[in-house]
Amino acid sequence: MSETDQPSIAVQPLTRHIGALIDGIDLTRPLGATQVAELRRALLAHQVIFFRNQPISLDQHLALGRHFGSLHVHPNSPGPEGYPEILQIHADENTRRIAGDRWHSDVSCDVEPPMGSILHLHTLPSHGGDTLFSSAYAVYESLSPGFRRYLEGLSATHDGEPTYRQRNRLRGIDDTGRRFPKASHPVVRTHPETGRKGVFVNANFTTHIDNVPAAESEGILRLLFERFAAPEYQVRWRWEPHSIAFWDNRACQHLAVWDYYPEVRSGYRVTISGDKPYL
Ligand code: SIN
Repeated sequence: MSETDQPSIAVQPLTRHIGALIDGIDLTRPLGATQVAELRRALLAHQVIFFRNQPISLDQHLALGRHFGSLHVHPNSPGPEGYPEILQIHADENTRRIAGDRWHSDVSCDVEPPMGSILHLHTLPSHGGDTLFSSAYAVYESLSPGFRRYLEGLSATHDGEPTYRQRNRLRGIDDTGRRFPKASHPVVRTHPETGRKGVFVNANFTTHIDNVPAAESEGILRLLFERFAAPEYQVRWRWEPHSIAFWDNRACQHLAVWDYYPEVRSGYRVTISGDKPYL
């Protein structure tokens, strides 16, 4: 079948604001330009897209990510031997803190934070282990025009050090002398492809709003973090073995639910490089 003969993907929105289930595509096979363009369109429209029953290899996972940009190497957890761009996501009975247990946009502490992430889970607990996604556009659009204008004049600091050092300490990793990314980004960013505005602060990496009194920074961040935690801006993804979630870090945040200890949940993430946020 030539690329032009391939059927179009089916896109089923899952909520009003965020998330769509994609059908009619086999990610274990090479993708054509039309399919890649359709996936990109669906991602931009829905902020996170989901797939069922896609038992991809690490090389197929990397190839999928490379269709959307160059790949990112995690600043705290580079991948296994020979696969620096693979981030292993794994929890079992020895885990003391899972990855992604607070609302966040991946590695937002980078000067150029990742554009997107593709997570493939092959092993799931008997129940639970869902991932929640919350729309940065919906949060922005929920605010009053005056408050939006106020936020548009602000930047905030995103620091990797507190979260990565805590994670390393819990894993028994000595990170003495290591330096972690830190960056200041606009509190509201304009998506470079859709042109829509979204709130870009998160509970995992954002330490403070720049150049305002501490009490004001804490109050603003608390309000914004609570908006991301509001269920009406979210989609909740229930994993099955070999499901995939592909999210746009410029337009949404996510949170992994750790309600399955001591069971195993395991898979791999490929992260796509992004660019410097702007208002
Ligand atoms: C992550 O933040 O990439 C982990 C998400 C998950 O494990 O569901």
